[in-house]
Amino acid sequence: MDALILVLAQALDMVEISYLGASTNHGKRIAVLCAAMGRHLGIKGDELSDLVSCALLHDNALTEFILLQQGREEDAVYLGAHCEIGQRNVEVLPFKGNISGYIHFHHERANGQGPFKMSEGYYPLGAELIAAADMIDVERHLQRIAPVLLPLLREDIEDDIHHRFTGRAGNALLAVLDEELLASLQDDRIEETIRRSVPDWTMDMENPALVPIAELIARIIDYKSTFTRLHTQQIANRAWVMAEYYGYNLTDKIQLYLAAALHDIGKLAIPSAVLEKPGKLNDEEFEIIKTHIVHTRNLLCAMKGHGPIIEWASNHHEKLDGSGYPLGKTAAELDFNSRLMACIDIYQAVSEERPYHPRRSHTETMPILNSMAEKGGIDPAIVRDMDKVMASYSLKDVETPKL
Ligand SMILES: [Fe+2]
Ligand SMILES: [Fe+2]
Ligand SMILES: [Fe+2]
Ligand SMILES: [Fe+2]
Repeated sequence: MDALILVLAQALDMVEISYLGASTNHGKRIAVLCAAMGRHLGIKGDELSDLVSCALLHDNALTEFILLQQGREEDAVYLGAHCEIGQRNVEVLPFKGNISGYIHFHHERANGQGPFKMSEGYYPLGAELIAAADMIDVERHLQRIAPVLLPLLREDIEDDIHHRFTGRAGNALLAVLDEELLASLQDDRIEETIRRSVPDWTMDMENPALVPIAELIARIIDYKSTFTRLHTQQIANRAWVMAEYYGYNLTDKIQLYLAAALHDIGKLAIPSAVLEKPGKLNDEEFEIIKTHIVHTRNLLCAMKGHGPIIEWASNHHEKLDGSGYPLGKTAAELDFNSRLMACIDIYQAVSEERPYHPRRSHTETMPILNSMAEKGGIDPAIVRDMDKVMASYSLKDVETPKL
């Protein structure tokens, strides 16, 4: 599987932990279980890759769902929204076959008691398998269940076939769920398990399909904070516009866009209470926020095959004079795109509406960047270029690139 999908899945797991206190690696365990059940049922090749990617990403609409749900009671309706939005979000990804309904119906039950009241036989096998894996993982905490409980767990599944589990999914689960599989789902082994057990594929950097994946990641990050709802998406779009201005080829444009979409992914690990604090942050809170960049670098480790993206994404708070964080890098250690990312991040943060300042026009934004450049923090040539390029977007959102 492509490392980017894995990073996306990792981000989703972190959202679950911070919002729901839910277990780590949920998406990965669902993927491993679906791969095992799928193979047992004779699913292979592209079809298996598609199933595993959907399984990894099945809860991708969690942040959007939580926002929708705030203050509402009608669980089924909003559980349905979580499924529908989740399906819509992944439809833009480069699947090889038909994944229709896989995520849309992942909370259906064989007896028709899911949010869409579909009963066994009316929703696709992909959704049956994801639903089965999801149900036992959420209810039984597979990452820490004691192996002695396996016979009981198997009995419960058996009793539930044609009630909540469909026949195909329930029986496939019984066929694959042994002590060895359970042990491989533990937190200290899941990384290795996923690398070993799911199909491997890597997307080329010039693959335009990377752009919608990056956009989806950006959206998930932005949903974490109501104050900066468009921060990441706007930074990615501005990065694309700057890359066009500099005449980058398609591969370089996509790489920069990806770095921009991923730059604040570490914010998913920051408690919402700190991210969402309406007033100025105290020193301790600011220190917590600053750790997002360390999380960004750690999360992106899985993307070693994606070249310098990790550096550009992780250097956006470094300054040319060494006054930035977390590493206090200096000019010699910061390449052009790292410098560009820093400038775009500052431009966006200064111009977007925040709880402590209103939206700022281009002419209100530039003096702040100019003064930072004069003091030696950011690259003056890039600031001059941004002054030219961004003027026409003053007080407007920059559109998502069309490929
Ligand atoms: Fe779900
Ligand atoms: Fe789930
Ligand atoms: Fe940041
Ligand atoms: Fe940022």
